[in-house]
Amino acid sequence: MNIANLINDDLQFIWHPCTQMKDMQDFPLLPIKRGKGVYLYDFNDNKYIDCISSWWVNLFGHSNDYINSKIKEQLETLEHIIFAGYTHEGIVNYSKRIISKLPNGLDKCFYADNGSSAVEVALKMSYHFHLLQGNRRNIFLSLENSYHGETIGALSVGDVGIYKDIYNDILISNITTRLPKDSSANEIESALHSLETLLVENDNKICAFIIEPLIQCAGGMRFYPSEFVFKAANLCKKYGVCVIFDEIAVGFGRSGSMFALEECNVVPDFLCLSKGITGGYLPLSVVITSNEIYSAFYGDYSKAFLHSHSYTGNPLSIACANATLDIFENNNVIANNKILSNYIFYKFQELSNLNMVSNIRRQGMVFAFDLNGNFDRTISLKFSQLALQEGLIIRPLGNVVYFMPPYIITNDEVDFVVDALMKILYKLNM
Ligand SMILES: Cc1ncc(COP(=O)(O)O)c(C=O)c1O
Repeated sequence: MNIANLINDDLQFIWHPCTQMKDMQDFPLLPIKRGKGVYLYDFNDNKYIDCISSWWVNLFGHSNDYINSKIKEQLETLEHIIFAGYTHEGIVNYSKRIISKLPNGLDKCFYADNGSSAVEVALKMSYHFHLLQGNRRNIFLSLENSYHGETIGALSVGDVGIYKDIYNDILISNITTRLPKDSSANEIESALHSLETLLVENDNKICAFIIEPLIQCAGGMRFYPSEFVFKAANLCKKYGVCVIFDEIAVGFGRSGSMFALEECNVVPDFLCLSKGITGGYLPLSVVITSNEIYSAFYGDYSKAFLHSHSYTGNPLSIACANATLDIFENNNVIANNKILSNYIFYKFQELSNLNMVSNIRRQGMVFAFDLNGNFDRTISLKFSQLALQEGLIIRPLGNVVYFMPPYIITNDEVDFVVDALMKILYKLNM
């Protein structure tokens, strides 16, 4: 394989996501040949630890033998079937299993094929649900600094300017409420007070409150207290506002529990799941809602939720999702992650003496710190390039360096990562 040709052809024919393509002149693409466990290998057989689980999706390593075997099995029987009017065994099984892991009130699965689509489904369903009750509530509510995806609806309820501002003219109505700055009782109360003011001012106009429980990931790995989520969700319910939990990034053990809603003690009206759902193999998402909401749509055609995606409920994706649940059930993953999380956090303290590093933090299996200094926009790319030299795939969000590894990472590999981070920070400081 001629790597230079591969890169040239890529740049000639491909437009990469979330990228200013011009940056590729200074920060070249890295073609990856294969993956195994926490490692990704380039065409020269250099190996890199996947510190970001390939955009937060990979839970149990690349080319996982068990998931591989299940996807191969599925491939021999059914690769795809239209999901309107037809069903398949895997998805019925999966739906029963996922619902058995959730509290009562999360009773019905509606499938889509990526995180943003799940958010669109939840937004549309919540609007439509109110309409079916005779209420035209056409404003959404979300937290400041939130991120829910890149499609127009999802972007509208997000609040990260770099992705959103340019499209302001074409977005749907959304208001943002404030995030507590810290976990002090005063801050929580003050943020809740702001929320209630908005709810009163917009009484009967707000259709749903969408929130990433416990962690704002794309917004810079900001953690905030479960108490706020609990009280904010209850306040919204008091004003008849549907609550949407976007657990696309934090579900499946990332937040520390299987689902963040357990830590927050909230049963949302809609739960959006994606990313880790297939262990990082194939696109899939699901929105889980209540029998009550489902029933409101049941009747003649005028009530039906006429939303679909061609690959909804794809059997290969579902085989991966079932395999992922098998691994959770058979390997005591959540309990083991707690031990692993403690070890990683303990090791990360070694970085705390560096002037460049502040605010080392963790929530479950998400670890982050801030880089102090006068950095320009390219800091993230510079950091990523230095990381490659040290054998890590890492992609800071601006000056926020985060570590979200596959759950199978070993203590030795964690030690390697922390040593490598030391070297990168040293070089960055030179
Ligand atoms: C919280 C959250 N919601 C939604 C999305 C969008 O998911 P997708 O990239 O699959 O469209 C993301 C993606 O990072 C996310 O972090």
